[in-house]
Amino acid sequence: MSRPPSKAAQETVDRVRLALGHPTAPQAKPSAHATAGERREFDFTTLPEYEILKIWKAVGDLTRIGNPFYRLHDGRAGNTTSIDGRTIANFSSYDYLGLNGHPDVSAAAKTAIDRFGTSVSASRLSAGERQVHRDLESALARLSGTEDAIAFVSGHATNVSVIGELLGPEDLIVADAVIHNSIVEGAKLSGAKRILCPHNDLDAFERALRLNRARYRRALIVVEGLYGMDGDVPDLAGLIKLKRRYNAWLMVDEAHATGALGRTGRGIAEEQGIDPAEVEIWMGTLSKTLAAAGGYIAGSRALIELIRYTSPGFVYSVGLSPPVAAAAAAAVDVMMREPGRAAALRRNGRALLERARARGLDTGLSIGASVVPVIVGNSPQTVMLSERLLERGFNVVPAVFPGVAENQARLRFFITSQHTPEQIDAVIDAVAEELPRILGGSSFVSTIAGR
Ligand SMILES: Cc1ncc(COP(=O)(O)O)c(C=O)c1O
Repeated sequence: MSRPPSKAAQETVDRVRLALGHPTAPQAKPSAHATAGERREFDFTTLPEYEILKIWKAVGDLTRIGNPFYRLHDGRAGNTTSIDGRTIANFSSYDYLGLNGHPDVSAAAKTAIDRFGTSVSASRLSAGERQVHRDLESALARLSGTEDAIAFVSGHATNVSVIGELLGPEDLIVADAVIHNSIVEGAKLSGAKRILCPHNDLDAFERALRLNRARYRRALIVVEGLYGMDGDVPDLAGLIKLKRRYNAWLMVDEAHATGALGRTGRGIAEEQGIDPAEVEIWMGTLSKTLAAAGGYIAGSRALIELIRYTSPGFVYSVGLSPPVAAAAAAAVDVMMREPGRAAALRRNGRALLERARARGLDTGLSIGASVVPVIVGNSPQTVMLSERLLERGFNVVPAVFPGVAENQARLRFFITSQHTPEQIDAVIDAVAEELPRILGGSSFVSTIAGR
């Protein structure tokens, strides 16, 4: 079913219409859900959602702001990248430890292609496993400090499928308000009662559990090890106390924490001195620090066995492509062998955070590890800032509504072990110069932004 746009989206559209000199809503077009007897029009451009896309495009054309999303990169994107043939500094890569293209990682992928080809063609349940799958899962269990691990073809699908299957309508899920979309989608799929608590507010988590736990069969608390939007971390020891008191499972998504937290980059447990066995469900992605694609769950032998036989995203989906599995396993090896990479990332993260603060930029809650936001306030101005930075030789992709609240639009800096002090200083100086110009700039953009 096509839904009407949300209230916030509709308000943005109305502001844009006003700014474009179209104060009245456009004539309704034939609905894509025409009733019997009406002309049936299978035209997606008539959907309200499509209308919003068109309006955003019109705004972009009119203000000459390019589309900051889906930028085409000419080659490997690390701390530098090439866009339109120009080499620029890149702050939008999750290759936190610079392992994408590392000779050992690439060689492992090539060897796996030579031996197994590029596909295993079907679910491992029916088409069987390859040694690279088993090697990867042992490496992930070692990395996580758990009994076992299991790898899926997508990080997003891992969360959707595992949460969607382990919990049901008689269960309770308590999650942080800024949790990643994949967890929200998994929770919806499960049909469980869902409570989103204000960000990192353990009192709110406690209240949600105290008031609701008794009425539900299972309870799951879900947090991120390092929040991808804000760059801060949860209090894991506090959450462990809560999950014990209320007999809940604790799940930690380490997507942005692996490689970035802990002395050797093993994540939040290492950072905060927690025994990994205290957390029932560890989740991670292969796409970021591990230079591949896919997701994984790490935990007890029983949990992994359960997932292996019941999780639809594993049982009914193809096994990881051999070069992808081999690349991720090799990336774990390099990371564990070379802890200096994680240390370099932390140095760079701290340097960027300190420089941004010194220049008066709003970095929100970031601790200065792999993610540092610079909060601008509204989406159009954030997009403009990203575009100005691109002109000046920096790729920094914005996070805008509906990914974040409309007044919380931001540039997100993803920091890698490979960034140089010069790149860090230069990009922050460029932001500090451009931001006041944009905030004090075009009344057109201000009208759109509702300022
Ligand atoms: C916290 C978090 N979890 C899960 C995912 C999904 O991972 P993937 O992109 O590897 O599918 C992401 C992706 O950015 C993420 O940020």
